[in-house]
Amino acid sequence: MDNENILKRITELRSILEDHNHRYYILSQPVIGDQEFDMLLKELETLEAENPEFFDPNSPTQRVGSDLNKEFGQVRHQYPMLSLSNSYSEEELRDFDQKIRKQTDQAFEYVCELKYDGTSISLRYKNGMLDKAITRGDGTFGDDVTANARTIRTIPLKLKGTGYPPEFEIRGEILLPFTEFERINEERAEEGEQAFANVRNAASGTLKSQKSSVVAERKLDAYFYYLLGENLPSDGHFENMLAAKEWGFKISPDATKCANIDEVIAFIRKWNQKRFELPVATDGIVIKVNSLSLQQYLGSTAKSPRWAIAYKYKAEQLSTILRSVSYQVGRTGAVTPVANLDPVQLAGTTVKRATLHNADIIKNLDLHLGDTVFVEKGGEIIPKIIGVDQSLRHPMFPKVDFIKICPECKTDLIRKEGEAAFYCPNEDGCPPQIKGKIEHFIGRKAMNIDGLGAETIDLLYNEGLIRNIADLYDLQKEQISKLERLGDKSAERILKSLDESHNVPFEKVLFALGIRFVGETVAKILAHRLITIERLENASLEELTAIDEIGGRIAESVRLYFSNPQHIQLLERLKEKGLQMKLDEASIANRSEKLNGLSIIISGTFEKNSRDDLKKMIEQNGGKNVSSISKNTNYLLAGSNIGPSKLEKAEKLNIPIISEDDFLKMID
Ligand code: IVH
Repeated sequence: MDNENILKRITELRSILEDHNHRYYILSQPVIGDQEFDMLLKELETLEAENPEFFDPNSPTQRVGSDLNKEFGQVRHQYPMLSLSNSYSEEELRDFDQKIRKQTDQAFEYVCELKYDGTSISLRYKNGMLDKAITRGDGTFGDDVTANARTIRTIPLKLKGTGYPPEFEIRGEILLPFTEFERINEERAEEGEQAFANVRNAASGTLKSQKSSVVAERKLDAYFYYLLGENLPSDGHFENMLAAKEWGFKISPDATKCANIDEVIAFIRKWNQKRFELPVATDGIVIKVNSLSLQQYLGSTAKSPRWAIAYKYKAEQLSTILRSVSYQVGRTGAVTPVANLDPVQLAGTTVKRATLHNADIIKNLDLHLGDTVFVEKGGEIIPKIIGVDQSLRHPMFPKVDFIKICPECKTDLIRKEGEAAFYCPNEDGCPPQIKGKIEHFIGRKAMNIDGLGAETIDLLYNEGLIRNIADLYDLQKEQISKLERLGDKSAERILKSLDESHNVPFEKVLFALGIRFVGETVAKILAHRLITIERLENASLEELTAIDEIGGRIAESVRLYFSNPQHIQLLERLKEKGLQMKLDEASIANRSEKLNGLSIIISGTFEKNSRDDLKKMIEQNGGKNVSSISKNTNYLLAGSNIGPSKLEKAEKLNIPIISEDDFLKMID
């Protein structure tokens, strides 16, 4: 194909794929299957990779994000992002209505919309193309999160239809659907990471993630509710939102025009419970004057418009009886108290349990069994106990005392200084901690054992078949296949995957051991610096802390791990089983100290090596690949198409700029 035809095909594929994205994500009416979609996407990816001159940040291929760390620039909002004044009662809404009616004799309409509970975003479009995505920030300046926003399928990169102004802004809410929230939290639990407390935090945390590939993986959603700019299609907000829908934006399907405040109040009552049926979180209703000219006439205060108000639903509260307190021992040994309650209907679900977080909370609430307690479910998914009705307490009700010994293994609990939680210190003998260690070991980022999950580990543990990670490698097919819900097929899959894990590189094995504070990155550093498990085992505190990025806390934890004879025995067994206990030959051969102590930032595209390869080379030669320029950066490794702001910053800070060839010379 000649250049002209290549570009033609690329343009065609981009438009076909955009159209299918719109049908799938906005209209929920796909007309082709996933496989067919993937084939078209692959074709486009290949053509774009072979013809980088046709790169377009708004291509559907860019929705997958990248692993590049990037800092967010700050952008000034063209129109400040105001907030809404809140109201909590129908009376306050009638006051709001009165005030507006005092200002005008004309009849006017309201629009009622759900108040989505996520994180707000402002999108700028120029000539139908997404130009910038900016967070609210302080209302005047926000973070430029364009790269992350591009990965969100409900944000159109190129607009459809006609009639949109050449430049405009549209504002909306980025949301994480409940199902996705649960999936992510399960995944985080599996990886030993702390769960997100609520969907709002999860949505804003994700949107500000440093890696757009992470954003792409988590299926964020976006609803739009405010159009700003000159020459909008209509004087009606509602009508403008319908136009925005035609351009490809997802707008709230439940927005409704109301002729007067009584209709507004009816809308609010209708959604009080119904909102719990929605796939995303909402915490109220937003009431807006529909006419833009009336909006303009009414104006805004410094903080919020006078033409709109939010009605916030009260966090649902109910009282019920505390029956007992149970204690859960987590993978790390932390003990969490949980209240068992008489079941009550709250915010769309039946609540039987509530978290009590830690011993201090129990003490502060002065909890007694049999107490009538107030339970609240707000933005948080897990309900909490917010108070006790002391007047209903019988003098015979027993006081709740936090347990002193581990409910799982009877070891005395300890409390570390400055920490709220009690811990069970018996990390190698306490069942949930053992199971947790095994779960971590098999995880995707560790040994990546297919077919084994928390449930199977439970079964294997309860049958007495595994007591530590090395036991996994002694499992026989018949032992697995006879377990409940497993069969020959699953057993074969597990054994095959265990067998394949012999090839998992040393740095991942090291991470899989679950040494406290040795996460993925630290494991990588230790593996590359010390090369073998024996050297790591024998490394002194001084040797460890001499390594860049290894601080005292990590070094002490490593020493503690290797000073335990049980761990040494475990490692011996793993060695016998044939796991990788030293860095692979290729990495060793390519290793040098030539870049020792140097921080290098990579930017642009390169001819001879991929960015990932360059990154690897920096690490193999003792250097550090950093993601943002600072005065501590030693070199900027620059390819073609490097962003002007990076270049400028490097020049300003006097950081030497080197080419790919310069770099290769440095390490060769
Ligand atoms: S309109 C000037 N409509 O609520 C008014 N906001 O407290 C612009 N929000 O920052 C906002 N749903 O993040 C509007 N249907 C809706 C909304 C909504 C949620 C959020 C938004 C805003 C905050 C204001």
